[in-house]
Amino acid sequence: MMITEKDFVSAPYNFSSENGITKWEAPSNIALVKYWGKRQNQIPANPSLSFTLSDCKTITQVSYSKKQNTEDFSFEFLFEGNPKPDFHPKMEKFFKGIESYLPFLKSYHFIIDSQNTFPHSSGIASSASAMAALALCLVDIERKMLEMTDEFFYQKASFLARIGSGSACRSIKGNPIVWGNHNEMASSSDLFGVEIDFDLHPNFKNYQDTILLVDVGQKQVSSTVGHDLMHNHPFAEQRFEQAHHNLSALFSVLKSGDFEQFISIVESEALTLHAMMMTSSLYFILMKPNTLEIINQIWQFRTTTKIPVCFTLDAGANVHVLYPESYKLQVVEFIKTKLSVFCENGRFIEDKTGSGAIMLF
Ligand code: PMV
Repeated sequence: MMITEKDFVSAPYNFSSENGITKWEAPSNIALVKYWGKRQNQIPANPSLSFTLSDCKTITQVSYSKKQNTEDFSFEFLFEGNPKPDFHPKMEKFFKGIESYLPFLKSYHFIIDSQNTFPHSSGIASSASAMAALALCLVDIERKMLEMTDEFFYQKASFLARIGSGSACRSIKGNPIVWGNHNEMASSSDLFGVEIDFDLHPNFKNYQDTILLVDVGQKQVSSTVGHDLMHNHPFAEQRFEQAHHNLSALFSVLKSGDFEQFISIVESEALTLHAMMMTSSLYFILMKPNTLEIINQIWQFRTTTKIPVCFTLDAGANVHVLYPESYKLQVVEFIKTKLSVFCENGRFIEDKTGSGAIMLF
């Protein structure tokens, strides 16, 4: 039966909890088929698929205590232990957005303390891991008051994370994760991320993702603005259709282990994402000259060595270098000697696919 938004509205609580603490870590994710464009309520315009990462993650602790006044949300937000009042409007908006699914929110005071394992100024978007970790903490509090299955727990966390930041719904479980209805996957949903429903070919297990930090500054254009620009975009319909098609093709590849096809889908998706940005009514370029230098170096290296290494891009200038674990030595050597010169202060982060969020307590 199809799961709808109504299924996430809580039944009356069975127990009451006075206070407590919960702590979760959630990883970042990197899309192979990109989500770019959405409808109302963070419903994606097309399905996407991502690898859940392992080491780039957000660790969030939420302490909660019951209060008398239930008129307003009440919370303190700390980042790495320090109060961050500038995060309050975002948090308030998130709480408003999820209130109808978590009716306990106004009855408690929350202290939310969050930290990332990746450096601040790395140009790595933390919204996916941050929203996923927070959503997990909040559903964990609800599960102390209401019985729920593990399956529903993770679905609801993904559903709420999506309301915070679309791609965050893919940061709950590993690996790969699909978000958005797709006709070849009965369990897929626009409302939350789901694990693929077939065995992943061993070629893609422990896949490596080295993130080259080309530009560590603030994004020039937020993804909210970018998604909006897909409304009335001249190529929107073809793009959404192409994403469905690329996802079907990627499903076959993830089953068969075909590196060549994998590379052509993943790189084309990355360049298409940026092509959409370059062709929207407000046009912009997030790649930097060094992004292109790196792409060219990867192409040359692949041609000469036949090592199946490829790139993908997020909504920024940084480059994710993707390759099988079996070629790690050669590729890391190549990155150190040939690619790191194109990174800000030579910086890059070695990550790989992981198995999803973890409860810390
Ligand atoms: O979750 P958002 O709204 O920050 O959008 C993320 C969009 C991309 O990272 C560019 C692509 C994706 O699917 O993650």
